[in-house]
Amino acid sequence: MNEDLLRKNLAGKLIGHNLYYYPSIGSTNEEAYRLGAAGAAEGTVVIADRQTKGKGRMQRIWHSPAGGNIYTSFILRPSLETGRTPQLTLLAGVAAAEVLDKHCEGKVELKWPNDILIGGKKVCGILSEMKMTGGKVEFVVIGIGINVNINVRQFSPELRFLATSLREETGRAIAREDLLISLYENIAKWYKKLLQEGFAPVKEKWLSLAAMIGRDVQITLHNETVTGRACGIDDTGSLLLVDAGGGTISITAGDTTILKENKNVAGN
Ligand code: BTN
Repeated sequence: MNEDLLRKNLAGKLIGHNLYYYPSIGSTNEEAYRLGAAGAAEGTVVIADRQTKGKGRMQRIWHSPAGGNIYTSFILRPSLETGRTPQLTLLAGVAAAEVLDKHCEGKVELKWPNDILIGGKKVCGILSEMKMTGGKVEFVVIGIGINVNINVRQFSPELRFLATSLREETGRAIAREDLLISLYENIAKWYKKLLQEGFAPVKEKWLSLAAMIGRDVQITLHNETVTGRACGIDDTGSLLLVDAGGGTISITAGDTTILKENKNVAGN
């Protein structure tokens, strides 16, 4: 990773003006959280070439080998009500999906809550963590992992069916620095839009990129499953499902599976 190139291009930018680069670290999210708690400014970014304790959602491990992927976390200090902070995760998904789509046009999809898929396989994951003080949001850390140049043979056998990388999909190696610079710039663009215009534009873009809307899905959380037809998201970032009885259910967390067309649960 060319740290100098990153510093030169990110100087003075909303996201990236303050940059910490590590050849190896436990987790960029943990480091950004530590920096945030110590008072680091909004837009501070942490980048690592490798993570030894990369964190995924639901206490999972995020496989983080050196040399080919993006592992980054950044700090935001928005004045948003706590209930609206999931909007930032969806915003990061929209911004990252737009950047990935430039390399793999028309093939990038969002999967609620925060996965980015190409050809149905995961290429990017997002993990947000928040610190609250006195009932208010002090800061939010948004962590983004993108499989850029990794060869799928480096994935464990069970991951090989579920995950992919940009190089795998395009046949070309992509400079991680360029991708990071475009990513931070696009996040800054969407963040300003959210603060000025509210959630509506982010939501509209998110829905246009979400393959699951209008499809029957199954959501699993701690051994419980809920099935229904995905019909939208609300302003707290929850997924809205129409169940077999025609009622609307709002889901705040879980893993999503898109069901095959013939498993029709919500009627026609
Ligand atoms: C998921 O899909 O489960 C979320 C994965 C998030 C991974 C990224 S990599 C950079 C940042 N640091 C971490 O420890 N996790 C996030």
